[in-house]
Amino acid sequence: MKGDKANIIAVAGKGGTGKTVIASLMLKFLSENGKGRVLAIDADPATCLPSTLGVKVNKTIGDVREEIASPSGVFFSEQMPTDMLIEYKIEEITVNTPLFSVLAMGRSEGPGCYCLINDMLRHFIDKLSARFPTILIDCEAGLEHLSRRTTRDVDTMLVVSDPTKRGIDTALAIKNLAEKLQINFRHIYLVLNKVTEDEAVKNALPAMVKDSGLTLIGTVPEDENIRAYDLVGKPIIELPKDSKAVVAVKEIFEKICGG
Ligand SMILES: Nc1ncnc2c1ncn2[C@@H]1O[C@H](COP(=O)(O)OP(=O)(O)OP(=O)(O)O)[C@@H](O)[C@H]1O
Ligand SMILES: [Mg+2]
Repeated sequence: MKGDKANIIAVAGKGGTGKTVIASLMLKFLSENGKGRVLAIDADPATCLPSTLGVKVNKTIGDVREEIASPSGVFFSEQMPTDMLIEYKIEEITVNTPLFSVLAMGRSEGPGCYCLINDMLRHFIDKLSARFPTILIDCEAGLEHLSRRTTRDVDTMLVVSDPTKRGIDTALAIKNLAEKLQINFRHIYLVLNKVTEDEAVKNALPAMVKDSGLTLIGTVPEDENIRAYDLVGKPIIELPKDSKAVVAVKEIFEKICGG
């Protein structure tokens, strides 16, 4: 953690690699480690993170933006200035559990006709974020939302990939994009997810990782419990602690946060 600034961990990667699963399990350990409340930001417009955390989110930042911009103007009040209303709304849509809070971004900003609203939203999201010692961001497949943040500092970016050459190439492209977008990250690590016992996979991986130049922080095995939980919509955060993927993410968490 840098001074009084929050420790920001972002989970990125291409679609379907397991960003939300890894983010949910990271949140489990971050929120249990006694370093204060964690803010989990779901930056994916599909808003999947809350259900993997067993949390119900009724409204997103995208909804708030629409309400403010709505021609009916129902959002506007003569009693309260717009900036105060926005701050109030962001507080209202943030879901708090005993250990962590969740804020969902919802639909993205679109082709910027709401500049002023977006600036205010960003300002108050940053203000809210400043109250949390740790922030975990489950990214959408692209990185645009990170580039739109006013504070573009990320302490640790985890780039999740499946254990394939194409997947690792994409992870490298994401790292290069993050650099191009001038997102300041202190550390960027590769996480290989859904790794099977297949000997061919195990033998091929070390050389592919080495060639990519990325730093591998851990591998997460293919875990049948995740499939079983996802099948019936059970929160991933409730997986048993001896479940293969949970054990693997705990190791990654310990490497990042010093156990
Ligand atoms: N270690 C694992 N073992 C087994 N299944 C997994 C594992 N990790 C993820 N999955 C499965 O892979 C699918 C995609 O996972 P997840 O939703 O976390 O990916 P994502 O990168 O967040 O996807 P999106 O880009 O759509 O947001 C899910 O069906 C999930 O159950
Ligand atoms: Mg996801």
